Amino acid sequence: MGDKVERYRVLLRTLDSLCRGETDRITIMSTIACELFHTFDCFDWVGFYRNVGGETLKVGPYQGEHGCLTIPFSDGVCGKCARELAVQNVPDVTKIPYHIACSSDTRSEIAVPIVSPGRPDELVAVLDIDSNLPAAFDSVDEDSLIKINRYFS
Ligand code: SME
Repeated sequence: MGDKVERYRVLLRTLDSLCRGETDRITIMSTIACELFHTFDCFDWVGFYRNVGGETLKVGPYQGEHGCLTIPFSDGVCGKCARELAVQNVPDVTKIPYHIACSSDTRSEIAVPIVSPGRPDELVAVLDIDSNLPAAFDSVDEDSLIKINRYFS
């Protein structure tokens, strides 16, 4: 666990440096998806679903095999995250009837709401990470990934 904390510390420091002064959200999302995907071996899909209005998410920058293109707020782990503006940590996706399977290899998933720090009620996107390992995500991931919000002010 200590190793994971340290990896996140280095990752966030790297992102601080890479994203400093950048305001284009697609550029920022691309950079974050790349850094997360290459930092943790057990992250098999990392990407953003952008809030495009009309209670709809559309896939944005990601790394991994293809993700589904559109997710309504009413469906999926990402949709629940968008509706509730709350982190969804799913240790076993087979136990969640509303889970949308983009890959049959996925075993666990975490979805994190991305809101602009100045506008906490306004969803920018959902950061979604899938793992082929069961229960890949814990409170360290939750506490660290929520800090990604700071790049979307
Ligand atoms: N599993 C997600 C769909 C997106 S893919 O995992 C990339 C969900 O249930 O919302």
